[in-house]
Amino acid sequence: MRILVVSDLHGNAPALRAILERERFDLALNAGDLVDYGPFPAECVRWSMSHCAYTVRGNHDHGVAQNVEVVGDHGYRYLTRIARPFMWPDLGPRERRYLLELPLTLRIDLDGLRILMVHGTPRDPLDEYVMGLVEPWTARLRDYKDIDLAIVGHTHHQFLLDLGEKRVLNPGSVGQPRDGDPRAAYAIIEDGCIQLHRVEYPIEQTLAGYEALGLPEKANQLFRESLTHGRLSPPPRVPTESSPQALPAMPPSGES
Ligand SMILES: [Fe+2]
Repeated sequence: MRILVVSDLHGNAPALRAILERERFDLALNAGDLVDYGPFPAECVRWSMSHCAYTVRGNHDHGVAQNVEVVGDHGYRYLTRIARPFMWPDLGPRERRYLLELPLTLRIDLDGLRILMVHGTPRDPLDEYVMGLVEPWTARLRDYKDIDLAIVGHTHHQFLLDLGEKRVLNPGSVGQPRDGDPRAAYAIIEDGCIQLHRVEYPIEQTLAGYEALGLPEKANQLFRESLTHGRLSPPPRVPTESSPQALPAMPPSGES
């Protein structure tokens, strides 16, 4: 069985289409965050509804479905605040209900693999932000004795982590990579073998979608930077008395 694994589509339909044009697969898994940021949320939600056998809820799916307004003037939080109002009119009642009812975690058996799916971590399915590091993932999965593979998203960083008896796969972000590689990220599982992939896509199509929304110029510039560089510049550093060399103004958590 050939399994496509995606996460963090974030309304970037041209990136999703590039993956679908390249790959043939028997089944698709989706680790959440279908919406927010990107200009084509409905297409991404409908694809997941019709083609993903299993999908878990991301923090942005939850925020959009629950009408959560976002506060923030910097970085990705600013972009969420600006773009979220455009999510609601694009999504019909059926798509919103789908987001609302997505499970927080899933435990499935596929092709001989015992799989746990969660967007963030088992401790905090929506919001905890853990990169591809052995120690924190070993702790998060210590009580999950009956799994071979955890499939996660949220960080927008692609990794495959070997913990010995189990592995952790983050396929990366389809629609908004943040690891410095702007190509759409995904993974393929076939016969127990996991491969990480990247594919170029027509970024200009996504940027044209933003132009059509009539967003503020600051937002258009940040979206362009994010999509063309695969990350945003670091937030402004603010000197403090206790740390004269400066601290980051925004933590990474809650932004993805
Ligand atoms: Fe995300």
